Amino acid sequence: MTVPILDLSIQHDALQPQINDKVTEVIASGKFILGPYVEEFEQKLAEFHNAKHAIGVSSGSDALLVSLMALGIKAGDEVITTPFTFFATAGAIARLGAVPVFIDIDPKTFNLEHQKIEPAITHRTKAIMPVHLFGLPTNMDPIMQLAEKHDLKVVEDAAQSIGAMYTDKMACTLGHCGCLSFYPSKNLSCMGDAGAIITNDDELAEKLRQLRNHGMNAQYKYASLGGNFRIDAIQAAILSIKLDHLNEWTEKRIAHAQRYNRHLEDLAVATPHEYGYRKHVFNQYTIRVHGGARDGLMHHLSGSGIGCRVYYPSPLHVESCFEYLKCLPGSLPMAEEAATEVLSLPVFPEMTREQQDVVIDCIKDFFTSE
Ligand SMILES: Cc1ncc(COP(=O)(O)O)c(C=O)c1O
Repeated sequence: MTVPILDLSIQHDALQPQINDKVTEVIASGKFILGPYVEEFEQKLAEFHNAKHAIGVSSGSDALLVSLMALGIKAGDEVITTPFTFFATAGAIARLGAVPVFIDIDPKTFNLEHQKIEPAITHRTKAIMPVHLFGLPTNMDPIMQLAEKHDLKVVEDAAQSIGAMYTDKMACTLGHCGCLSFYPSKNLSCMGDAGAIITNDDELAEKLRQLRNHGMNAQYKYASLGGNFRIDAIQAAILSIKLDHLNEWTEKRIAHAQRYNRHLEDLAVATPHEYGYRKHVFNQYTIRVHGGARDGLMHHLSGSGIGCRVYYPSPLHVESCFEYLKCLPGSLPMAEEAATEVLSLPVFPEMTREQQDVVIDCIKDFFTSE
């Protein structure tokens, strides 16, 4: 039996009649750009987060970019972030001419090590961009305390963590704003590209709405320089339908993760760290394989028809496009080591018990036949 890393066909087959009807309705309405389908989704998404505003945008990458633009981040400003993330996090900072300041990660959670933030703050630091990697919220209280102390903005990259919680608050509502991606591999996914920004700040929300639409503040009047960062109405309509199922999908991910934890605990792998006060939503179920065995395990799984991935094979500070930052290999050892040890296993909601058993047995087989 093969087990893919992700299979969207099951949830899409189940929702296809509803999605077909809705897409047909959007086509008949001709309301493709912003308008009622986008507004309906934004309202549902804001309610889901118990937040005042949700602003739909063209992608998770653009959500990060527009957030930084709205917060006034400009060339030469420094933004502290993690090197152990998808490229878009640091890419958004650098595209504005601002400087990504990479600090090391907490090896247990793969998220920013908050104790390393304060020593990295300079008079040019304007913001902190934590990433709730794999679905686990970053330890946000110390970050928000530092932000207040040093008058910094905080943009949460919650692309992988919709529905995650930190204490009694949703990810995306902990900083000044939070960014979501609806890329197909995310817990809530569309059928193309889309993203959103969540905020409780009325003024920031207004600015974000303008910037996603070229900075337009009245018909053909431009208060600031924005771009076309609009969410597509068809994607918004699809997302409105899928959002109703997100909690149920998340609970299934969590159940799969708990079952993996139980079955892998005696093996030479570290299962994901969890904390009672943080709800992990397992966009990825990522284990650490110590002792140089990660690649062997990966090949063993792939050779047996099991989808598994390395997120991420190298931390961003060693990428050639960031050479100018002079953040040399060896300078962020925790992130560099994680890149050699992580392996993400299938954890999509519709994975069957039989499929999960195949994955577990294959991992056990690797370690017993070593
Ligand atoms: C952590 C993180 N940030 C940003 C993004 C960018 O999102 P998108 O692909 O929707 O542009 C992604 C996902 O791809 C991501 O995983």
